[in-house]
Amino acid sequence: MSTDEFPTDSPAVVTCGLPYANGDLHIGHLRGYIGADAFSRALETLGQEVAYVSGSDMHGTPVAVNAEQEGVDPAEFALEWHEQYEETFPKFNVEFDNYGHTHDETNTELTQEIVRTLDEEGYVYEKEIQVAYDPDADQYLPDRYVEGTCPYCGAKARGDECDEGCQRHLEPGEIEEPTSTITGNDAEYRERTHKFFRVSEFADYLTEFLDGLEGTSNARNQPRQWIEEGLQDWCLTRDMDWGIDYPGSEEEDVVLYVWVDAPIEYIASTKQYSERVGTEEYDWERVWTADGEIVHVIGRDIIQHHTIFWPAMLEGADYNAPRAVAATGFITINGKGLSTSRNRAIWAEEYLEEGFHPDLLRYYLTTTGGLQQDVDFSWDAFREKVNGELVGTVGNFWYRSLLFAYRNFEGTPDADVSKEVQERIEGAIGEVREAVNDYSLRGIGQAATRLAQFGNEYIQRNEPWKLTDDDPEKAAQVIRDCVQIAKAVAVLLEPITPEKSQLLWDQIGEESDIADAGLEAALETPPRNFEEPGELFEKIEDDRVAELNEKLEERVAAAGGEDETESDETDSDEAEGMTDDETTADDLEPLLEDRIGFDEFQDLDIRVGRIEAAEGIDGADDLARLEVDIGFETRQVVAGIKQLHDLEELPGQKCILLANMEPAELFGVESNGMVLAAGEEADLLTTHGESEVGEKVR
Ligand code: MF3
Ligand code: ZN
Repeated sequence: MSTDEFPTDSPAVVTCGLPYANGDLHIGHLRGYIGADAFSRALETLGQEVAYVSGSDMHGTPVAVNAEQEGVDPAEFALEWHEQYEETFPKFNVEFDNYGHTHDETNTELTQEIVRTLDEEGYVYEKEIQVAYDPDADQYLPDRYVEGTCPYCGAKARGDECDEGCQRHLEPGEIEEPTSTITGNDAEYRERTHKFFRVSEFADYLTEFLDGLEGTSNARNQPRQWIEEGLQDWCLTRDMDWGIDYPGSEEEDVVLYVWVDAPIEYIASTKQYSERVGTEEYDWERVWTADGEIVHVIGRDIIQHHTIFWPAMLEGADYNAPRAVAATGFITINGKGLSTSRNRAIWAEEYLEEGFHPDLLRYYLTTTGGLQQDVDFSWDAFREKVNGELVGTVGNFWYRSLLFAYRNFEGTPDADVSKEVQERIEGAIGEVREAVNDYSLRGIGQAATRLAQFGNEYIQRNEPWKLTDDDPEKAAQVIRDCVQIAKAVAVLLEPITPEKSQLLWDQIGEESDIADAGLEAALETPPRNFEEPGELFEKIEDDRVAELNEKLEERVAAAGGEDETESDETDSDEAEGMTDDETTADDLEPLLEDRIGFDEFQDLDIRVGRIEAAEGIDGADDLARLEVDIGFETRQVVAGIKQLHDLEELPGQKCILLANMEPAELFGVESNGMVLAAGEEADLLTTHGESEVGEKVR
């Protein structure tokens, strides 16, 4: 790995979290797979050598429990889902260089090899532990076979994860008030011997690893807190028979924990790709054991696995460390938690059956919020984004510039691109480079859409339709510029809308594959002639949206009905949760009836401040200590933003401070003022003009 900007001279691998092979894919899965696909395509346009790999997660209780419910063999069950996923991804233009699965030979062998190495290096020991057991079912109850209460936050939790609460991984025996998911009985505890991985020994290594880790800030901040609280060793084995055997063990009905072999599929899948194309072309060993740039795109519910267990395993077995972990937020539907059991989801198949182009969803999911923000999906917001940005801005520009060029010049006019346009395109290319290095998919999309917006303004400003008779030379130059911008938009947008970009590419007479074109192609001259263009995006009508909303409502009602208190419910494997992105009036706090006078407002001394320093407060989950310059003096303030902001990025930012708040003490730290913020995500208030630090808000 290097810390150089992309593109680097080393080969990269982009991965996305493996889907459990246990049910239909939905929009929550797609966000990650599309996001990682777009990121990998974007790296490629920068000239980075890169492979995009993943595979199906076949083992563990997520698969075993569901297979059992259907009365089928887990191997057969998982394979069927795996095949379905393989078919579905390309329909969303998600193109893996390799898509394997964790039960195949490559992964099985590699997993055993890695575990053997960890064992030989002294990182594994045996320990007797208490394991939940269901006497009626006569079965041990690993992971999803048991439910109870999270010992850390008190939320309802599964045996190995606090999926509805703090998102922590739970070790066997940790869950409180355990009940069996098979019979509903209270679980009994029995003593068993299991293998443990000495994760606790890696605390210093991991601290340093996190300091250098790129990606989203939540993937650094959460694990830092877990390390501070003290790392526990990690149980590597489970009492069940579906999974990969511990290397060399004869013991029946004990297998490796699914989270051991699942991430190893990242390596196995890369290896399969190398073996297919030849190591000359792409060398998996170089990537994973030498200088490769490893980028993991995951859901934020599996940060701990990717920033604690996985890097510790890699380090212990002498593999390369990931360069970046980009953890996406959850998807909500109409402002409510996505719920597979309530059928409040947008299913992959359903989306396609409704006849929408995959690139529309790709655009929506990558550009609606920042990567780590929760993104709300509603058919209304979808229509608005598609009609506004894709139809109104990009499609409109593409069509009108090409049509004009075709009618007046039968293609690209013989003229040079103007300096203004050349520089504008260069600027957009720079924005894309920067966005990729910031792991910002939205930044990539915005660079392209803004360029198209510029194109529309450029046509409007130059009115080529008035020039064709009076000043044909000038008309030729303006249209030449427009064709170049159209081509550039296609190149820049390719990572996000690969198929639509290819269509535009074909329309301007290019004969290659746009995916093979680098960013520099945005500045290369298009072919001289092309045919009459067609429109590439279609408006979504209001009544279509009404119909889709109705269908969704009916479906949710049929699956158990709506109810206002369920909004934070989560229940599936995939990232789900709440957002305040698309808050509806119902979710907002009611307005206060009592009015205050201006005098009362004057009692509030609100000032413009600048954050000088920000750090987490030890022992407090959510609190940060800030130093805020308010002109006259610097105030120490405690704010509940530790989890919600990347504290490192706050110094230098302006904020708004209630300066005459009574001092208070929180976790032993004096707070002398209050930083103002909006909403559940603590969106920090700031100013948008030139006001100076210390100025009063009035
Ligand atoms: N199947 C897991 C989930 O859906 C993700 C596995 S990702 C990997 O939560 F790192 F293990 F590969
Ligand atoms: Zn919890």
